[in-house]
Amino acid sequence: MDLKELFLIALGTAVIFFYVVKLLLFSRMLFPKMWFPLSKSFFTSMGEWAVVTGSSEGIGRAYAFALAKQGMNVVIMSRTKVKLDQVAKEIGDTTGQRVKVIVTDFMKDNVFSEIEDQLKDLNIGVLVNNVGTLPSFIPCKFLESAELDQAITNVINCNVKTMAKVRFLFFGKKKKNFFFYLYRGKGVIVNISSGVASIPFPLYTLYAASKVFVERFSQGLQAEYKDKGIIIQTVAPFGVSTRLAGYQSTNIVTLSPEDFVKSSLQYVRAGDKTHGSVCHIVLGWLLQSIPLKFLYSELMLHSLQDYVKKKTAQKAPSSTFESGKNK
Ligand SMILES: NC(=O)c1ccc[n+]([C@@H]2O[C@H](COP(=O)([O-])OP(=O)(O)OC[C@H]3O[C@@H](n4cnc5c(N)ncnc54)[C@H](OP(=O)(O)O)[C@@H]3O)[C@@H](O)[C@H]2O)c1
Repeated sequence: MDLKELFLIALGTAVIFFYVVKLLLFSRMLFPKMWFPLSKSFFTSMGEWAVVTGSSEGIGRAYAFALAKQGMNVVIMSRTKVKLDQVAKEIGDTTGQRVKVIVTDFMKDNVFSEIEDQLKDLNIGVLVNNVGTLPSFIPCKFLESAELDQAITNVINCNVKTMAKVRFLFFGKKKKNFFFYLYRGKGVIVNISSGVASIPFPLYTLYAASKVFVERFSQGLQAEYKDKGIIIQTVAPFGVSTRLAGYQSTNIVTLSPEDFVKSSLQYVRAGDKTHGSVCHIVLGWLLQSIPLKFLYSELMLHSLQDYVKKKTAQKAPSSTFESGKNK
């Protein structure tokens, strides 16, 4: 065997080894219950209360329900008191857990001191930073967005600033509380990003960029506080049938909020980022494998626009995109 042959065999073996390891790591994501088992008391062992932002409906409501079913008391927050009261009653009736309602608008400035005051006496073990806003479900180019200045403020305040204010929500404003949570060595923070943050995503540019912030912020925090025993994970769903996504019909790709949350909670120990369900993990992988040149062609962008417009016309009731109106 000459040197060239040896080199080729070594290269082939290395490539096979690389893909076998990749496949093994990927297979862990297919069986989260087996690879990342959670004890029955996992969530309650973190603390007594779970805080879920943006939880009067959709994914946030499903997280609040799921965590209450795990035995946690929950704090739910959104702009709309009547919807929150209804959710609080449903959670209380179904699970027997305590529910605290906070009416707030994360698009506004300076709401965090008031929230912190309402949270300061609670033993908070889990925070789901779920609230998020999508300026328009119908994809459009950045400069063609309706009320662009307002949209920028809303997205920055709601999707970005709320994440960075995590200290106020979770640790409390006072240093004493901050160190208490840090050094008691437990706690879970789940930050909801989006599958569209996986690549630069034209026609949802502002939203996708805000979700990239969520991911990087979350992953950086996890690296900083991992050794303190705090789990900080970013969850990046693709399609979930909610108001924000135009109540698309559920199927293998578009999940109901309840199914998505049930699945995503199984990944809570699976690292600093997950797409939260097998089909969304596969979608994330596919999206990153498609050449961007093809995705960004005018034909593709027009097709995406037409597809969403058609779907929205078929599905969305006139009130679909109204929010925070029946306070
Ligand atoms: N659905 C999807 O396909 C999908 C995909 C990827 C990522 N996500 C992300 O998942 C998260 C939840 O989305 P969703 O689909 O569940 O949305 P949703 O059904 O529209 O629910 C959003 C929740 O947040 C509340 N909310 C909205 N703006 C708020 C504000 N300014 N202040 C306080 N509360 C506010 C809403 O209640 P009020 O209107 O009553 O305030 C509602 O309870 C978001 O971060 C979103 O970006 C969703």
